Amino acid sequence: MRNVYLVTAFLVVLTLSILGLRGTLFVKAPMDVFPEWIFPGMKYQSKLKPQAQSKFFADGRADRPLPAGVVPAAYGPAGQPLRNDDARYAGKDADGDFVARIPAAVKVDMQFLEHGRDRYVIYCAPCHGALGDGQGITKQYGMGATPTFHDDRLRQMADGEIFNTLTHGKGNMLSYADKLTPDDRWAVVAYVRALQRAQAGSVSDVPLVNKPELGL
Ligand code: HEC
Repeated sequence: MRNVYLVTAFLVVLTLSILGLRGTLFVKAPMDVFPEWIFPGMKYQSKLKPQAQSKFFADGRADRPLPAGVVPAAYGPAGQPLRNDDARYAGKDADGDFVARIPAAVKVDMQFLEHGRDRYVIYCAPCHGALGDGQGITKQYGMGATPTFHDDRLRQMADGEIFNTLTHGKGNMLSYADKLTPDDRWAVVAYVRALQRAQAGSVSDVPLVNKPELGL
């Protein structure tokens, strides 16, 4: 009989926790165990909500105008400021077909190609391999379907289509739009072309001075 109070208390708590407050919606904020006036924190910081008013700014708006020179981060529909060049930002011409070559607005030089190699080694080589043969490290971990760049289909593919694959991803390959800016993507396309060229070289590509080294 000594335990009757304990057992009763246990049963009350058990009943309450099983039945009580199930599915109840609360309209009031929960009780603060550590009130703000004792423990100042970030929970109740003063802040301005979007499109609200504010006495702080002279124009009375909480939203601030964008600073001059701001560039939109995401590719949007044609007509957006600085992004209305479909060839450069979507890899497509006016008819919506993929552009065959890297747009002229993008200057391809050695530095650009080296930047492309940089990005390629970071973002692509794990799957596609340093040579672009699809033998990256992920193959050893079961990612089998990574294609090589060294077949005719990919050699003849329009530059714009590769750009599009980098922008939107394909199959198991994710989009790189959040990691590579449009120009980064063109740099990677240029480097993929360089890899393809390198793997498709022939004796006639060897400079005359180096031919003796090959016994030619
Ligand atoms: C996580 C592994 C992975 C990474 C990283 C990756 N890819 Fe891929 N990539 C794939 C796979 C898998 C496919 C095959 C997709 C399909 O056809 O379903 C593919 C396909 C491709 C294709 C061929 C698309 C086509 O139309 O057949 C190209 C070109 C390509 N990747 C380029 C790149 C480049 C450039 C990068 C770096 C920015 C990159 N990939 C990063 C896995 C990857």
